[in-house]
Amino acid sequence: MQTDQRLVDGFGRVATDLRVSLTDRCNLRCTYCMPEEGLDWLAKESLLTDDEIVRLVRVAVTMLGVREVRFTGGEPLVRRGLVDIVQRSAELDPRPELSLTTNGLGLARTASALAAAGLDRVNVSLDTVRRTTFQELTRRDRLDDVVAGLAAADAAGLRPVKVNAVLMRGVNDDQAAELLEWCIARGYQLRFIEQMPLDAQHGWSREQMVTAEEILGLLSQRFELTEAEEPRGSAPAEKFLVDGGPATVGVIASVTRPFCGDCDRVRLTADGQVRNCLFAREESDLRTALRAGASDEELASRWRAAVAPKRAGHGIDDVAFLQPSRPMSAIGG
Ligand code: 5AD
Ligand code: SF4
Repeated sequence: MQTDQRLVDGFGRVATDLRVSLTDRCNLRCTYCMPEEGLDWLAKESLLTDDEIVRLVRVAVTMLGVREVRFTGGEPLVRRGLVDIVQRSAELDPRPELSLTTNGLGLARTASALAAAGLDRVNVSLDTVRRTTFQELTRRDRLDDVVAGLAAADAAGLRPVKVNAVLMRGVNDDQAAELLEWCIARGYQLRFIEQMPLDAQHGWSREQMVTAEEILGLLSQRFELTEAEEPRGSAPAEKFLVDGGPATVGVIASVTRPFCGDCDRVRLTADGQVRNCLFAREESDLRTALRAGASDEELASRWRAAVAPKRAGHGIDDVAFLQPSRPMSAIGG
């Protein structure tokens, strides 16, 4: 691929990691994400079809230099065509790395089919291993399903199995070490993510957020952490060896130590909008062009134009910061 055909922005960053949201719906109601009653879901006719998604993934991979495709939601496992979308993405040349960010519900049923279709890895969201806390945090009593989903992913070879956790003050911030112990015992790689201002209810506050610094302090009460030597590169997690290794833990300080300067991501929403950042205030509509009969070349050039003006950073610290109008569940993690 000639370099000038890739997704380059004004700061010279190149987007090679595409996150595709397959639905904005979810079967959990994590308090840091959605209100109890759910949201006004996207209308069915505005959602990209399976064929439309595969076409855009093909354009990204074969014409724009995208090397990694991660399927997200909402909850991507609630999308019926998921296995087929994965399979058709895996048939592309060059073959992209394929991964899935999921809450794990239903993963026990689909992990082996996903692996057979060509999925490489999963990230499962799990913030606690206590049933009562899980219910308080997600508003559903489904801990057992997530645990079974993780085990199935591991058995299907979707490794390394990664676990993402968000700590909420007064809810599960007393359980960081316990969660890490649980993950290490099963060979899962745990990463803590600082809570970001992306909840539909706009309830985030910096004071309530449990910082990376605090997370490391909490873990250090139980474990000895040493910085893993491998360079962070564009991977947002800072990795630490636990008690000398080989087990590790990651901390993603999206707010307090942003990694925007190394960002290599671009996002496609379930209704066909390109977002050049989680916190972007503008989107670029590919769906309308696609349905109006645009050629692959035209879609690729619209996509490049969508990435070019990407801002330097998320600006959460700016006085003028405005939370994006789309919540995380409609953008994709
Ligand atoms: N801040 C940080 N992480 C979040 N997630 C969802 N909402 C937020 C938020 N406001 C996490 C989920 C999942 C991943 C997609 O992002 O728990 O692991
Ligand atoms: Fe669903 Fe993920 Fe939002 Fe939880 S964080 S409600 S699992 S989309």
